[in-house]
Amino acid sequence: MNPDFDTLIDRRHTSSLKWDRYKNKDVIPLWVADMDFRTAPEIIESLARRIDHGIFGYTVPDEELSQLVVERLHNLYQWDIQPEWLVWLPGLVTALNLAVRSVAKEGETVAVPVPVYYPFLMAPKLGGRQSISVNWQKINGTWRLDLNELENKITTDTKLLLLCNPQNPNGRVLTPSELKAIETLCHKHSLVVCSDEVHCDIILDQTCKHTPYASISQHALDHSITLMSPSKTFNLAGFGCAFAIIPNGELRHRFQNTRKGIVPAPDNMLMGFTATKAAYRHGEPWRQCMLEYLRSNHNYLLKAINAIPGLRMNPVEATYLAWIDASKLQLDDPHRFFEEAGVGLSPGAQFGDANFLRLNFGCSRALLETAVERIKKAVYKIT
Ligand SMILES: Cc1ncc(COP(=O)(O)O)c(C=O)c1O
Repeated sequence: MNPDFDTLIDRRHTSSLKWDRYKNKDVIPLWVADMDFRTAPEIIESLARRIDHGIFGYTVPDEELSQLVVERLHNLYQWDIQPEWLVWLPGLVTALNLAVRSVAKEGETVAVPVPVYYPFLMAPKLGGRQSISVNWQKINGTWRLDLNELENKITTDTKLLLLCNPQNPNGRVLTPSELKAIETLCHKHSLVVCSDEVHCDIILDQTCKHTPYASISQHALDHSITLMSPSKTFNLAGFGCAFAIIPNGELRHRFQNTRKGIVPAPDNMLMGFTATKAAYRHGEPWRQCMLEYLRSNHNYLLKAINAIPGLRMNPVEATYLAWIDASKLQLDDPHRFFEEAGVGLSPGAQFGDANFLRLNFGCSRALLETAVERIKKAVYKIT
């Protein structure tokens, strides 16, 4: 298998969220988290075959689909789950909001490590719940979660921790001992953990290994909601297909009840199910090639960004997102500055730190190099 990730495929005029933002401007879009790559050929063929059938009625997540997830989690993460723990959903942001509303009552508190993918910050507010934030801190050059700060802020009203692992935007993959420390704290204070692991199949640093939070102990298993999806790994975000794994029957029942009448039952996820089956059955060779391409883009970007005065980037352990510190440039609005230079990044403010920018390197190398040249030129003009 030799997928072509180098050719720049024109995504304009395809209603792409990422590309349409700048459709009449010369701005390279490296913001929202989807990749510019065509998905695996087996997925495309499987979707085409299903389309050819011509009947697109309500569809159930069948036994084959559940079995593929069970096998995948066993093979990749040595985590054995039961098919009945699976809850299919049209997206992970939906799942985050359902987790908040089913675990914490109105007025109760949700803990959120910051910076983080912005729907984590919004979910408590949208549900009328309170939130406390705990900071990721750079210690000896590595991003670490300050658990002392978290413990100091926890009250008897705190019911849930929203974890993002691998982390978006800083790219950390939490080690088993970091997860164990989180579990010890959550056990002590009776917190449920909702662990968003959507980026778990995109490990770039081969010395890292993804460990599902729920697999760390029996207590974690019984007090957790794990969120996963093929959407990031196989570039299927437009299909809206995700799943939660909720081993605790009572918690699962509350989660399902919260969805009733608001979030569609999963019977309208036909194409998402079709794509997921093909991805999990046949997508592994493509995923490995994609990872190699991303690793090469990452290594290039790390060197190039850290060679630009005033910009700093840490190695990314997982995801195709770089979290770039622009504080030394002392710009009023770093996002606007680079947008005016022709590169559309995600503003760090959105994630909770205005000094940073998030760059999506899930694109062809040629496009990435052009973007870096623009970034470099803009910085040299002001330094
Ligand atoms: C950590 C994380 N969770 C959830 C999502 C979005 O998931 P969905 O499109 O299924 O709502 C993203 C997208 O970037 C993400 O990075």
